[in-house]
Amino acid sequence: MAEEVSENRRDFLYVATAATGAIVTASAVWPLINQMNPSADVQALASIDVDLSAVAPGSQITVKWLGKPVFIRRRTKKEIEAARNVDLSELPDPIGRNDNRPGEPATDENRTLDESGEWLVMMGVCTHLGCVPLGNAGDFGGWFCPCHGSHYDTAGRIRKGPAPTNMPVPTAVLNGTTLTLG
Ligand code: FES
Repeated sequence: MAEEVSENRRDFLYVATAATGAIVTASAVWPLINQMNPSADVQALASIDVDLSAVAPGSQITVKWLGKPVFIRRRTKKEIEAARNVDLSELPDPIGRNDNRPGEPATDENRTLDESGEWLVMMGVCTHLGCVPLGNAGDFGGWFCPCHGSHYDTAGRIRKGPAPTNMPVPTAVLNGTTLTLG
C-alpha cells in the first residue's frame, strides 16, 4: 500500500523546465496539488525545453505545458514490446493522435518520439472527462484513470473504459537529451 502511494505520488511530480528564447524561465518543483493554477508566465510559454538526462528507463516525469500535464515516459524494452505486439484491430481508437504524424494509424511506432520507441510523450489528460491518469497502472500496464475506470496501454492508447480516444501526442522534438515541446 505504501509502495502504491509513493508510485502514485511520483506521477504528480512536476519537474523544472526551461523556456526556449523566452523572457522568463520557470524553475520550480511543484506538487500538482499545490499547482493547479500555473503562473501566467508559465502558461504563456508556447515552447519549452525539458532536460531528460536524469530520466531513467522505466520512469516517467510530468511537466506542465500550456497549463496541462505532459507525461514523458522512458519506456523499458518490455513496455515497448508489449505496445508493439498489440493487434491494431483490438484498439478502440485506431488513430495515432500524434500531432507530429497527423492522421496516421495508432501503431506504437506512430506514437513514439524516437525510432527505438524508448520515449513516449503525451498529454497527461484522460480523454473521457479530463482527469490525470496514474502511471504503471491498469489492466494493460500503462495508465489508469481512477475517475471512471479507463485503462490505457504502454503506448497511451485507450484499451478499456469510457475514454473515447488515445491520449494525444503533442508536437515535440528530441535533440540528444533535450525535448522541445511546442
Ligand atoms: S475522466 Fe478518466 S475515465 Fe472519466
